[in-house]
Amino acid sequence: MLNIALPKGRLGDKVYDLLAGIGYDCSEIYDDNRKLIVTNEKSGVCYLLVKPSDVAIYIEHGAADIGIVGKDILEESRPDIYELLDLKLGKCNMCVAAPESYIEDLDRPLRVATKFTNIAKNYYISLNREIEIIKLNGSIEIAPLLGLSDVIVDIVETGTTLRENHLKVFEKIMPISARLVANKSSYKFKNAEILNLVTKLEKELADK
Ligand code: PRP
Repeated sequence: MLNIALPKGRLGDKVYDLLAGIGYDCSEIYDDNRKLIVTNEKSGVCYLLVKPSDVAIYIEHGAADIGIVGKDILEESRPDIYELLDLKLGKCNMCVAAPESYIEDLDRPLRVATKFTNIAKNYYISLNREIEIIKLNGSIEIAPLLGLSDVIVDIVETGTTLRENHLKVFEKIMPISARLVANKSSYKFKNAEILNLVTKLEKELADK
């Protein structure tokens, strides 16, 4: 039996469809309930429905064998787990954005609002630019509109949130997509099961 941590939400739904398509189905997942653990003995899977930002924590602690997590979260928290496969789903970019008319003042530290404090720090260290971080938990785009920050470091998918708030991308930091990850001991002790799933997934992705 493989315990799979699935991020709840849009990405999780897409990933589940992909896994179900290659034989790891669990019809109970579609039932109208609030169950967080659903199992299908026949397919040999147990899905754990967790918050996307917590997937890597379950994997690192061995509460799940494998899971699906965004590259943004892997870069931000650098968990001690294996990254096995790029699923090419949930594609977006980690960007620096600011109001359309923004002009940087190089004589003072840049005020950066973000959820991704480590990604932002590492990025500006690489540019040798002094910054002040303002850690927020969501609706990051509002920060420069209120003068709380100069720029934001955040995920841009369709660009709609930026456009509707008169912000624009100034720099792209890195492309993001969903990754299949594994707990290190599970990878050793459930190696055949995990590799079997990886091989099927690779084939499915190549055929798409
Ligand atoms: C994310 C991200 C942006 C938005 C980008 O927010 O932080 O705000 O999506 O998507 P778009 O380019 O397609 O508009 P999320 O919806 O996760 O909510 P949050 O504000 O709570 O972070």
